[in-house]
Amino acid sequence: MAVIEAQNLTKVYDGKVRAVDSVSLEVFESEIFGFLGPNGAGKTTLIHMLCTLLKPTSGVAKVSGYDVAKEPDLVRKSIGIVFQDPSLDENLTGRENMDFHGRLYGMATGEIKERITELLKMVELEDKADRLVKTYSGGMRRRLEIARGLMHHPKVLFLDEPTLGLDPQTRRHIWDYIRELNRRERVTIFLTTHYMDEADSLCNRVAIIDYGKIIACDEPKHLKDLLGGDIIELKVAGKADALASAFKENQAVRAVKTAEGTLCLTVYDAAKMIPQVLELAESLEVEVNSVDLHRPTLDDVFLTYTGRRIREEETSPMERMRLLMKR
Ligand SMILES: Nc1ncnc2c1ncn2[C@@H]1O[C@H](COP(=O)(O)OP(=O)(O)OP(=O)(O)O)[C@@H](O)[C@H]1O
Ligand SMILES: [Mg+2]
Repeated sequence: MAVIEAQNLTKVYDGKVRAVDSVSLEVFESEIFGFLGPNGAGKTTLIHMLCTLLKPTSGVAKVSGYDVAKEPDLVRKSIGIVFQDPSLDENLTGRENMDFHGRLYGMATGEIKERITELLKMVELEDKADRLVKTYSGGMRRRLEIARGLMHHPKVLFLDEPTLGLDPQTRRHIWDYIRELNRRERVTIFLTTHYMDEADSLCNRVAIIDYGKIIACDEPKHLKDLLGGDIIELKVAGKADALASAFKENQAVRAVKTAEGTLCLTVYDAAKMIPQVLELAESLEVEVNSVDLHRPTLDDVFLTYTGRRIREEETSPMERMRLLMKR
């Protein structure tokens, strides 16, 4: 059964910025669904429309069977949200933050108490429950926000960039918690991310978004398999285009992409091809600085569709501010 349905959902800011452009999608019960795209692709805007925090310019969406525009209160009761920006009260303890949320949703006192214990245990924060949030690390804060989003037993949990700016080990731990609560609470999860590895490892299905449009949507494995073959990535100095055209003639090369001094070749048998590739580069006097060989990643999928890479390392000024605020 579809828990989230959107048809031609569109948001235009100030009459000109098409942040979300005619997005149609279905998310099914108990899925972990990922919305993957670079900075500014429209991920937060989409999540805010689905959570009734932002009015769509056009199109329709239903969450838990309720129309986001016509039945916002019913939508809100059925969902939990973890915002991209930190939203905990630092001067309250973890338990107090959870308690406040429970009251806001009209839960009974006894139920709140029980639920807090259960959820804090799940995210392994029981022993920190009565410490002020300002003493928590970034990862602990994120875990608390996720637990808080689940207080009122939502059918769907929205997570906007759940691991943004956290170190790799903490990010992996958070993935484990997300998997666990999806399994235990049977909650459908809709998350956004610009981390390829996150979408790949955590999500049952992924929609790749660029400039407000979905450019591909499927299981991560299918998206990668469609590229067919291994990827040889060459970092070259100059004349990348000459080398690219030479490869376009080559039968053994399935696809050729160039982006910012790198050349990506999709080939059937990379080990066999590498000597040929280097010989050709030499004959064309193209200097090769490095050669990398890998199975296709979601970044290669993105490159195939858009001709650009999702840059994980690039931090926008806005993101840097957010990260600073989290400390
Ligand atoms: N309130 C607003 N007014 C005008 N333009 C906006 C507003 N909010 C977002 N935008 C623009 O809409 C586009 C999509 O922004 P959005 O925040 O949804 O992207 P995102 O994918 O969440 O990005 P990030 O990865 O940085 O969080 C961007 O071009 C952004 O500048
Ligand atoms: Mg965002």
